[in-house]
Amino acid sequence: MIEGILCLFLAYAAGSFPSGLVIGNVFYHTDIRTEGSHNTGATNAYRVLGKAGGLAVLILDTAKGILGVWLGQQAGILLAPDQIELCMIGGGLLAILGHSCSLFMKFKGGKGVATGLGVILYLAPWETLIVFAVWCIVVAFSRIVSLGSIVAAILVPVTMYLFHEPLEIVVFGILAAAFVIIRHRANIVRLLHGNELKVERIHKK
Ligand code: G3P
Repeated sequence: MIEGILCLFLAYAAGSFPSGLVIGNVFYHTDIRTEGSHNTGATNAYRVLGKAGGLAVLILDTAKGILGVWLGQQAGILLAPDQIELCMIGGGLLAILGHSCSLFMKFKGGKGVATGLGVILYLAPWETLIVFAVWCIVVAFSRIVSLGSIVAAILVPVTMYLFHEPLEIVVFGILAAAFVIIRHRANIVRLLHGNELKVERIHKK
């Protein structure tokens, strides 16, 4: 029992790991919260730190989502073997929550996109391929990552529904999409005013 609860707590703690802050501070002596969009995610890490820094944050943040679902699965095996899928969803949601309300950043954090990517990659890989392809197209044409992320978030539950995923997966998709869109509210205001930041580097280092 206690081990199962510990797994769920670890899913939240893993999501809380502040990849953007750690990569920025340790390898570039830069706090990425002081520049660009001030977000700690991979997009702002790319703007402030460059390709290698952005990619490292993207990989770590995505891995947190995968780890969260896996920890949820372990919790399911220990706590409720007939509800493993629900526990996996719970682990994924806890990882996304940890990323955005981090234990290590006074309950502040990122927008949940890369960690959410890791979660859906584990739960619904085919839908993830489609959503990721659309994200790439939107970002390639607009150069605005937030626009791609919002479109992708909307597509997550839609593709899950079209692929006839179980109801709990579709409900998860709706909740995760709503969460990601709410976390983008400042981006939405900038998009509406036509002054959203593009994905370009701020300085060349
Ligand atoms: O994943 C976050 C992205 O959608 C927007 O990032 O830094 O442009 O606010 P940013």
